[in-house]
Amino acid sequence: MKPGRVECKNIALAYGSGKSATQVLKDISLSIEPGEFFALLGPSGSGKSTLLRLIAGFNFAQAGQITVDGSDITRVPPWQRNIGMVFQNYALWPHMTVEKNVAFGLEERKLPRAEITRKVQDVLALVGLADFAKRRPNQLSGGQQQRVALARTLAVEPKLLLLDEPLSNLDAKLRVQMRQELKSLQRRLGITTIFVTHDQEEALTTCDRIAVMDQGVIQQIGTPIELFDAPANRFVANFVGTINFIEGEIEHARDGVTFVSMLLGRVSLPASVSTQVVAGASLAVRPHTISINTDVISPDRQRHTIDVAGTILEREFLGEFVRYRLSAKGCELIVDHSHQPESEIFATGQNVTLGIAENALRLVS
Ligand SMILES: Nc1ncnc2c1ncn2[C@@H]1O[C@H](COP(=O)(O)OP(=O)(O)OP(=O)(O)O)[C@@H](O)[C@H]1O
Ligand SMILES: [Mg+2]
Repeated sequence: MKPGRVECKNIALAYGSGKSATQVLKDISLSIEPGEFFALLGPSGSGKSTLLRLIAGFNFAQAGQITVDGSDITRVPPWQRNIGMVFQNYALWPHMTVEKNVAFGLEERKLPRAEITRKVQDVLALVGLADFAKRRPNQLSGGQQQRVALARTLAVEPKLLLLDEPLSNLDAKLRVQMRQELKSLQRRLGITTIFVTHDQEEALTTCDRIAVMDQGVIQQIGTPIELFDAPANRFVANFVGTINFIEGEIEHARDGVTFVSMLLGRVSLPASVSTQVVAGASLAVRPHTISINTDVISPDRQRHTIDVAGTILEREFLGEFVRYRLSAKGCELIVDHSHQPESEIFATGQNVTLGIAENALRLVS
């Protein structure tokens, strides 16, 4: 049964009608490859769950089409779609044991008893819960409950696995562990998976490709690296990681060289960047690509397009790095300075030198 190619074409959905209608999904088109681990990433209210519920069939779009492996499911009810969904709160039956919870969907399908028993055992082994079959949900940790919810969904062998913020009830450490387990399980099964999250780190670390959503619109679709290194617009640049925008005037010189005059100085843009210059684009730089030191002139000055004096306004210690907010020539910048046991930590009010290398500059429209 493997494949599981999902195609959404020009999906639109509004809640309410007339003047009070709110458009929640606007012209959503995307295509997900068989076996892909695909994320819908966006802030709260951006329409992620709404889109997932349309794919599951719990809700219907007012315009557009959804197909799975070429067949139109836009109007097909959920029980005829062969799609498994794991909800944020797991929705386990509290009065049933783990094995009963997992068997539930199989019993609904009236499979022979022996087959149900075998499938339940297999899928519990798959998620590492073979020894927990007789427990009830309230005798399990959050991570174990999450695995029961996953086992219950996988037991019916769906063509698509839909996960709505499945890890958000777990504490930070367990979340990291579970997202790795989820990824390796998904790889082993090769099941097309759509994963909803508002956590960019979760999406970047777990998924093959990500659709970034804001206000019901897909802002960009790409691999984690594409989104991070070549964000399509300001929203994506800011939502996937942190970025500094540097205001400036862009000038095209005769010989094809493009200059930017900004408060920090006037720089020529590398050819790779200047080809992307469009009206309204701004120069941007990631916090970890700016160097910071106390020398008057930074030692690797030759490598830097921009070298400016700055003052530390604020700092946050984050373990692996220290995040500084600085002011430099009237600009405010965020700089992430990698932290080693012997590395210097700068104080609020301290004067420092910042270096930005040419190849760290990005243009974002
Ligand atoms: N039944 C409903 N009636 C009216 N508006 C709704 C309904 N369900 C959702 N909305 C609105 O639709 C928008 C998108 O909601 P949705 O649940 O898809 O967001 P989300 O991206 O999943 O957010 P979160 O990260 O908070 O779960 C929100 O503004 C929400 O208020
Ligand atoms: Mg949601």
